[in-house]
Amino acid sequence: MQTKYNTISRENINEMVISFYTKILKENNDVAQVFISKLGDDLQSDIWKEHIDILTNFWSMIGLQEEGYMGNPMMAHFNLPLNKEMFSSWLQMFFEIIDSMYEENVGIVFKSRAENIAMNFMRNLGI
Ligand code: HEM
Repeated sequence: MQTKYNTISRENINEMVISFYTKILKENNDVAQVFISKLGDDLQSDIWKEHIDILTNFWSMIGLQEEGYMGNPMMAHFNLPLNKEMFSSWLQMFFEIIDSMYEENVGIVFKSRAENIAMNFMRNLGI
């Protein structure tokens, strides 16, 4: 079995982000449909590359206290057709990627923040 990361780096965050979206597109579920209608289905495209860079900055802010992320995550989700089931499915896929890549004590940082943010998004979206 491949060894899991026991530290967080920008490189492994970038790998995690790419693995996460690769998984989403492969699952081809409701969550995937939202991403595909917004960004297309080609992870190599410029629009996806930009999204992957933004999310690498976002998780580096959380995992490494880096300052590169300047966006407003909530705003990006207001006009998307999201529901509770899609958030559970997003979290399930995210947790699977985190568990497959990081030791438990490291992965918990990403998982607990993701769960918190998902709860906030749902509350703000009224779902
Ligand atoms: C059902 C669940 C979700 C779906 C379908 C979804 C979908 C999307 C899509 C399509 C975008 C791109 C929007 C655009 O470029 O206009 C986006 C952006 C983003 N999402 Fe999500 N998202 C979900 C949940 C989450 C959660 C739980 C988090 C955080 C833990 C998150 C973090 C972000 C961030 C940081 C951005 C970038 C915002 C920016 O441009 O600064 N998303 N999401």
